[in-house]
Amino acid sequence: MRNKIAVLMGGMSAEREISLVSGQAVLKALKELGYDSFGIDVSPDLPFELLEAKPDAAFIALHGRGGEDGTVQGLLEIMRIPYTGCGVFSSAATMDKVVTKTILKGHDIPVIDDVVARKEDDLSEVLEEVNERLSYPVMVKPAREGSSIGVTKVNSEWGMHDALDEVFRRDDKALIERYVDGRLITVGIIGTEPTVLPVLEIRVKDGFYDYQAKYERGRAQYEVPAKISEEISEYARKVALSSFKALECEGVARIDMIYEENNDTLAVLEINTVPGMTETSLLPKAARALGLTFTDVVEIILKSARLKIENQTFCLSRLS
Ligand SMILES: Nc1ncnc2c1ncn2[C@@H]1O[C@H](COP(=O)(O)OP(=O)(O)O)[C@@H](O)[C@H]1O
Ligand SMILES: [Mg+2]
Repeated sequence: MRNKIAVLMGGMSAEREISLVSGQAVLKALKELGYDSFGIDVSPDLPFELLEAKPDAAFIALHGRGGEDGTVQGLLEIMRIPYTGCGVFSSAATMDKVVTKTILKGHDIPVIDDVVARKEDDLSEVLEEVNERLSYPVMVKPAREGSSIGVTKVNSEWGMHDALDEVFRRDDKALIERYVDGRLITVGIIGTEPTVLPVLEIRVKDGFYDYQAKYERGRAQYEVPAKISEEISEYARKVALSSFKALECEGVARIDMIYEENNDTLAVLEINTVPGMTETSLLPKAARALGLTFTDVVEIILKSARLKIENQTFCLSRLS
């Protein structure tokens, strides 16, 4: 009997459209591999659809809140359906950049200096703290969002009101970070025995790696392996694996970092536990440098599927 795999995609987050593209690409790969796979566009009916379909495992292709954040993972634990990637705690913690950075700091992993602001905070007090602890420009972003949605580069105090407004329409917690004029790199990690992929560098023509640069063709260029020294590359991969372990990730994650060449420092920006999974997404691109096809990556991630709380794995079988 071949395994029945449900690919969970879509959902209600701001990254719904991207998740649908990831989900379709994963579904196609699973079909090519011979699995009895089908897609579910996640809605409040998800438990009923899962009860009816009775999949052997769920492949999570949901980005953002309501999917990458531990909620769906919790439901799958209760329904005893093994699922890919990170567990409940790890998904919830990494969804929140403030929580992630607190944990990373506790493990002596370098992060960027910041100020956290909440919706109910007094703006003048927030500005005072920013003036004391950081200097402009700063990056203002929602604590729990992805795809650069709601992220603004602010050059002076005058831009802070609008940037925070942009965040508070989406989240009640804002992260204000020193703007680092460095090279943007990312490291993917896949598999039960984690394989750390080569470092990939993202080069954006102008501005930062915003939503348009992420999804419009030609707005950004990618280099893998990144043209950085062997030493920095090894260090970045080491920091990525330490971050993965610190947040108790498993199966798959992509760690975004910034490397400041002038003072030779590296800092972790964030951890994505359900990174983009189209053929041209960053993690599959980095895997290709190791000779792994998109389909190989999908199968490696699928093999990570298990119930994390009871440590129950599921047996893989497919049409040979
Ligand atoms: N402190 C920072 N300094 C410089 N650029 C930043 C900083 N924080 C974020 N960025 C830019 O914004 C992009 C999105 O930020 P990130 O923290 O990765 O959030 P998201 O979850 O939206 O991807 C990054 O890829 C980078 O280009
Ligand atoms: Mg990012």
